[in-house]
Amino acid sequence: MALSAPSAARPSPHHPLQVEHLGHRFDTTAVLSDVSLHVAANEIVAIVGPSGCGKTTLLRTCAGLLSPTSGFAHRADRAVGFVFQEPALLAWRRVAHNAALLSADQALVERLLSVSGLAEHRDKWPHQLSGGMKMRLSLVRTLAARPSLVLLDEPFGALDQITRHRLHDEFALLHTEQKFAALLVTHAIDEAVYLADRVVVMSQAPGRIVGEFAVPFSRARSASLRYSPEFGDLCGRIAHCLEAHA
Ligand SMILES: Nc1ncnc2c1ncn2[C@@H]1O[C@H](COP(=O)(O)OP(=O)(O)OP(=O)(O)O)[C@@H](O)[C@H]1O
Ligand SMILES: [Mg+2]
Repeated sequence: MALSAPSAARPSPHHPLQVEHLGHRFDTTAVLSDVSLHVAANEIVAIVGPSGCGKTTLLRTCAGLLSPTSGFAHRADRAVGFVFQEPALLAWRRVAHNAALLSADQALVERLLSVSGLAEHRDKWPHQLSGGMKMRLSLVRTLAARPSLVLLDEPFGALDQITRHRLHDEFALLHTEQKFAALLVTHAIDEAVYLADRVVVMSQAPGRIVGEFAVPFSRARSASLRYSPEFGDLCGRIAHCLEAHA
């Protein structure tokens, strides 16, 4: 297995995403507390944390859908893609039309449809797709817009393990092709370690960052990595951190 030294990217205003001392309250309830993190170009950062600790709220502030109560989330440009937990497809548009909704680059749409195994389903309606296919289509539609930053809220959460693992590899392939920055929220530690360059751990609400782990594996990852002792060891250390602050 190839190991590479993790490069500690320093925060810079040119990073696709920079979050500084961000806090949020809903009425009197503090949901996020003093969260600072950055995502460098081409970097995938995963966030894990207990249910209700503010992960979706953090993503919404990063997307500009919600103004934080304190601190800020700075996006370097406007090309931000958001993959919601529930694939929000247009029921009255066929697969190919949904895929092209946010993109003027038809060649890219076709390539993404092909890479994600959806080309042969291009004439179907969303209700004719399985859950995994809908999620792939949601990813394709977002990535076809060539975002420089992608925010993903548990995009693989509702899928069976085999489909999830297949989609992990498709996502990694698309990332290699497009080199976007990504902030990925997930409950699955193995998913975080398999996909990300760094894993950030959040505490129970009000959510704050209580741990950060560099993932030392080279980008070309394959299924066998999941069964290696190094992979298991890193997952174990992240789980320990998570449990200590839950
Ligand atoms: N619009 C809102 N108004 C009031 N409270 C909210 C709102 N949105 C979220 N909350 C509260 O903020 C807290 C954090 O919610 P959030 O959805 O960010 O958590 P989460 O970490 O994404 O949880 P999960 O892992 O279950 O998705 C919860 O207590 C939730 O009830
Ligand atoms: Mg959530």
